[in-house]
Amino acid sequence: MKPSEVVYFILKEKKLFTPQSDCIARAYAPSNIALCKYWGKRDQQLNLPVTSSLSVSLGDRGSYVALSISAASHDTIILNGNPVEPVSAFAKRFAIFMDLFRHSPAPFYFHAEIISTIPVGAGLASSACGFASLVLALDQLFNWQLTPRELSILARLGSGSASRSLWSGFVEWQCGERVDGMDSHGIPLDVIWPDLCIGLLIFTDKEKPISSRVAMQCTLETSPLYHDWPQHVAHDLALIKQAIIQKDFNLLAATAEANAVAMHATMQSAVPAIDYCLPATRAAMEKVWQLRKDGIAVYFTQDAGSNLKLLFLRHDLALVRQNFKHVEVVTPFLSSGEAIDDEHKVK
Ligand code: DP6
Repeated sequence: MKPSEVVYFILKEKKLFTPQSDCIARAYAPSNIALCKYWGKRDQQLNLPVTSSLSVSLGDRGSYVALSISAASHDTIILNGNPVEPVSAFAKRFAIFMDLFRHSPAPFYFHAEIISTIPVGAGLASSACGFASLVLALDQLFNWQLTPRELSILARLGSGSASRSLWSGFVEWQCGERVDGMDSHGIPLDVIWPDLCIGLLIFTDKEKPISSRVAMQCTLETSPLYHDWPQHVAHDLALIKQAIIQKDFNLLAATAEANAVAMHATMQSAVPAIDYCLPATRAAMEKVWQLRKDGIAVYFTQDAGSNLKLLFLRHDLALVRQNFKHVEVVTPFLSSGEAIDDEHKVK
C-alpha cells in the first residue's frame, strides 16, 4: 500500500483537499525521546515498525509551525528565520510529505515558517516534532477535524517517531499488524511524573553523518544481532510500562539505558558498522557509569546521533548540574516556567 492510499482512506469523507487560502494555521508539537526504541521497519513506505516503542515528550523542546498557502510556484520554508533552499534535503523531504495532501484541481504550494527549539538533524527527534506539528497545522488549514490517532498515523508517514509526538508525556507507539497500518499509531499513557528530569547533553548540533532511516534499514538487513532485537524490545517494553505504573525510577531508567545500548550494539554489528558516538559521547557515558557507582541514580539514553539524554529525578538535579556543566534540563511533566530548583527555572 502507498502512503497516498492511506491518506485517501483517512480523509475520504472529508472534502479534504481544498485549503482555506487566507488562513495561517499555527501548531506546536514536542520532540520525544524513546525509552524503548523503534529500530527497524516491516514496511518502509508506510514507516510501519517491527516492534512497538515507548517515549517521553520533551515539553517545550519541539517544533512550532505557521502554515499557509504560498503565492510562489513552489513550497517556501523559513527555518529559524532563514530561508531553506528548495534543493536542500530538508525541503525535498518536506515537499514529498506535503505532496500527499495536494489533490486540489489547481496546484498549490505551502509556505511554512518553522521554529525548532532543538537542533535539526542531530539525533534529538527534530523530524518527529517537525512532522507532528505539520499534520496538526494541516488539520487546521484544511479543517479536517481528525482524531489524534488519525493525526498520529499521518505523522508516521513523514517519520515513524513522529507518531509519538502528538501528545505530551509518555506515549506508546503500538506497532500494529495490519498491512495498511491503521492500527499503528501512538497511544498516550495516563501517568504524570513531575519529578522525572531529562538532561540534554548536546555535543554537536551538526547533522548526523548517516540518517536514522538509512541506519535502521542497514541494521535490519545486515546485523547478526538484529534477529534478537524484537524479543529484546518486548521484554524491555513490558518492564518500562511496569516501571512507569509503579513509578520505579531505577527500573525505568536502567531498562531504557540497556535498550539504547542494545540498539547501538545492533548498529555496531551492521555491515558497514554504524557508530554515532563522538569521544565526548563515550566520556559522558563513562561519567554516568562512575556516578552510579558513587550512588547517584543517573542514566542515559542515546538515539541515532552523538548526543545523550540523561534520565534522573529532581532531587539529583544539583548533582547532575555539577557533573555536567552544559546540561540542558527538561522536565516533561512541569509546565514551562515552573521552578525546578532555587536557581533555575524550567527552560
Ligand atoms: C533511534 O523516526 O527518525 O530515534 O521512520 O525512518 O523517519 P524514520 O525514522 P525515525 O527513527 C527514530 C529512531 C530512533 C529511535 C526512536 O525514536 O524510537
